[in-house]
Amino acid sequence: MRIVLLGAPGSGKGTQAQRLIQAHGVPQVSTGDLLREAVAQGTELGKKAQSIMASGALVDDDTILGIIRERLARPDAAAGFILDGFPRTIGQADALNVLLAQLGQPLDAVVLMEVDSKALFDRLTGRRTCRTCGLVFNVHTAPPPSPPPCDGRCESPDLFQRPDDSEATIGRRLEVYEASTRPLVEYYRREGLLRSVDAEGDIDAVTARLNAAISAQ
Ligand code: AP5
Repeated sequence: MRIVLLGAPGSGKGTQAQRLIQAHGVPQVSTGDLLREAVAQGTELGKKAQSIMASGALVDDDTILGIIRERLARPDAAAGFILDGFPRTIGQADALNVLLAQLGQPLDAVVLMEVDSKALFDRLTGRRTCRTCGLVFNVHTAPPPSPPPCDGRCESPDLFQRPDDSEATIGRRLEVYEASTRPLVEYYRREGLLRSVDAEGDIDAVTARLNAAISAQ
């Protein structure tokens, strides 16, 4: 399975990708996660990306494409992948087409996760991540169990809020999505790859709709 999860910040790409990994046995490739790892490790890439991410802007295409080329060359991506948060610009989508043609691994589908902008804002302001086990919660819609441990994977939940989930930065990220990433909906519709999923409501119900969209011919 080779798919792109396309959608605004907070549309549930990461949440659903985690479920698809288990169901389909292919890795999630999240450019946001790869950039956050680089920031945490203090690499040159991380130093360059940190302030850009905190502002809600996009990291430049050349940098992102370097990360993607390296990640898709790893053995675990040979059987397929779930692209989460990439591509995000027309330039990235064009470069992905070239790369996948070289690898002989064309995309099966691009799934648009559709969520109302008010719900996106609530999801992003409420998101909390466990620093220890990496699980993502939401103070409004998916709170961590109390008392700890949060899921048995770690001793105690150590929740933090992503720096780019501040109200001001969320607004900027949603603007950037509309200006730079929304045009990909039409791009992939023209390529015959686009499938849309109602990504609001119960997380299990969204997973069921997503799986149905992926398996539809
Ligand atoms: P990235 O990490 O990719 O962030 P994003 O696309 O803004 O997406 P999010 O991670 O915020 O949301 P999500 O859709 O994964 O939602 P989630 O499942 O967590 O990118 C961060 C930054 O890195 C960018 O701004 C940019 O600077 C840079 N970057 C990354 N990729 C780049 C690229 N390709 N090019 C250039 N720059 C790049 O869910 C959100 C919350 O909602 C959670 O709390 C969750 O529990 C909750 N939730 C999920 N589903 C539901 C549901 N059905 N009902 C209720 N709550 C739900």
